[in-house]
Amino acid sequence: MKGRDSMKRTSHISELREIIAMERGRGRKIAFIPTMGYLHRGHLALVEQAKQTGAFVVLSIFVNPLQFGPHEDYASYPRDLDRDASLVKDAGVDALFHPSVEEMYPQQMVTYVEVGQLDTVLCGAKRPGHFRGVTTVVSKLFHIVQPDFAFFGQKDYQQYLIIQRMVNDLNLPIEVCPVSIVREEDGLAISSRNVFLTSEQRQEAKVLSQSLIDAETCLRSGERSTRTLEKQIRETISGNCHGIIDYVEVRDAEDLSEVTMIERPVLIALAVKFGSTRLIDNKVVEVYSHDQNDDEI
Ligand code: PAF
Repeated sequence: MKGRDSMKRTSHISELREIIAMERGRGRKIAFIPTMGYLHRGHLALVEQAKQTGAFVVLSIFVNPLQFGPHEDYASYPRDLDRDASLVKDAGVDALFHPSVEEMYPQQMVTYVEVGQLDTVLCGAKRPGHFRGVTTVVSKLFHIVQPDFAFFGQKDYQQYLIIQRMVNDLNLPIEVCPVSIVREEDGLAISSRNVFLTSEQRQEAKVLSQSLIDAETCLRSGERSTRTLEKQIRETISGNCHGIIDYVEVRDAEDLSEVTMIERPVLIALAVKFGSTRLIDNKVVEVYSHDQNDDEI
């Protein structure tokens, strides 16, 4: 651990608890950003928002094995703790927590936190057990950090909704703060997994955000059928890249239920595989139901 004014850094739960208790003793609130590391501008936007609360900012880096399926990329998930530590220090994070797998899971887990319904669709349907792994580790982290605020990027919109629901259902005294998607200049949503794209795949991947923009334009000019929008997005993607579509779906933005005709805010979400790299992106579009010429709320 370093001097009083520099970023604190620990891999031990007990030490982190001491650091946080000391700050609470000084009357500070705690803002928390859980991450899996390999940080990018999207994470730094979370730090920026967290700092605006004036709270003591804790960021965790933990590649959580519980949320990866047996054939997923846990082993190859990109990691660079030294680079991450220097990035978050410069960004003004107050404490960095980077536990080992043994620290987080000293024995085989038999206790899980599971948010039903919301985890059965979109990425939940395609990655069985993924969200159970996320909600379990986030619950553990919430118990360790006991934050007042917790920040989640909206690129993982379904994850954000699930965490918000978990916090509501379990009466956790935490304000869940969503942060907008950060994009590259050509629109590609920033993700730690983008480094795995070949230059051709990277070039092609911009079609994902473009297909969402086109769908929003179509919705705004009066189209209300989810089937038509989904078909249009699929055609745009298939016609402009070699990626394999995992899903393209338009769902209710609040509870992810199925929508046939769009009358309320919807989430337009997609997942596409470029080789073994699976990218996700989404857009929430709000419409009025009573107006022919819908406007953004
Ligand atoms: O979004 C992520 O990076 C992870 O799912 C999270 C929330 C850090 C849990 O491991």
